[in-house]
Amino acid sequence: MSSAASIEIDHVSKIFPGRGGAQDFKALDNATFTVDAGEFVCILGPSGCGKSTLLNILSGLDDQYEGVASIHGQPVGRHGVKGSRIAYIFQEPRLMPWRTVRSNIEFALLASGFAPSEWKERIDRCLALVELADFGDFYPLQLSGGMQQRASIARAFAIEPDVLLMDEPFSALDELTARRLRQQLLTIWSTFRSTVLFVTHNAFEATFLSDRILMMTKGPGGRFCDEVKLDGLTRPRSYEDVRVFEASKKVVERLVSHVGSLDEE
Ligand SMILES: Nc1ncnc2c1ncn2[C@@H]1O[C@H](COP(=O)(O)OP(=O)(O)OP(=O)(O)O)[C@@H](O)[C@H]1O
Ligand SMILES: [Mg+2]
Repeated sequence: MSSAASIEIDHVSKIFPGRGGAQDFKALDNATFTVDAGEFVCILGPSGCGKSTLLNILSGLDDQYEGVASIHGQPVGRHGVKGSRIAYIFQEPRLMPWRTVRSNIEFALLASGFAPSEWKERIDRCLALVELADFGDFYPLQLSGGMQQRASIARAFAIEPDVLLMDEPFSALDELTARRLRQQLLTIWSTFRSTVLFVTHNAFEATFLSDRILMMTKGPGGRFCDEVKLDGLTRPRSYEDVRVFEASKKVVERLVSHVGSLDEE
């Protein structure tokens, strides 16, 4: 059972230095927000507003920034955060091509603290969840792009993360698979109660999944501009529930009022 951890982003700014005489580029401008332990929060914003940059900072992959990013009260370091398991599902699968799917997941489990004797059962369970039960011994290049992404989702779930960072994980999947995985994600979340920070530019997806949506817009410098609370939408939520559609319509209207067009929807 994971023990969910809170997330704190305190006045975080990120500047990518210009190369070869080009100007510096501000990708994040003074971002400040918190996510409570066990909460499911979506970040919704147009392409290029700094969503992946923010997750890279929170995961410890990028430590060149101003401000403070912390998880469970501990600043995020180059190797994550002591005492918390963090899983990061990237926009693309990022599996190691020389390892089978099973071996990719084992590699993630190495640092997780789970006894090796329970790895097989754990991996089998997670592969079954993403409907890859028969593909554990395949190499990534023997799988379609969508299957690879599902394998990377299984890898993240296998470590029972305290914090799950997800960067548009379903955007490259066909809609039926994406729907199934959203439902599975919610089931897993309601079981383990990890803290989830989920990045998307799909307003319906954000509304369907989250407790709260944080909206971002492009500056210069990506910044947070609005927040929508969805605690009125009871769970479990269904795709047929007209209230989810109505809420997502309002989310789109709010987003358009900040960003100015519908070109990302
Ligand atoms: N390594 C880098 N060097 C220079 N600029 C970068 C780098 N990485 C990102 N950027 C710039 O920072 C901005 C934010 O990028 P980021 O990848 O965080 O956007 P995003 O919100 O995740 O977009 P998308 O929805 O398309 O994935 C973009 O303008 C991008 O060009
Ligand atoms: Mg991105």
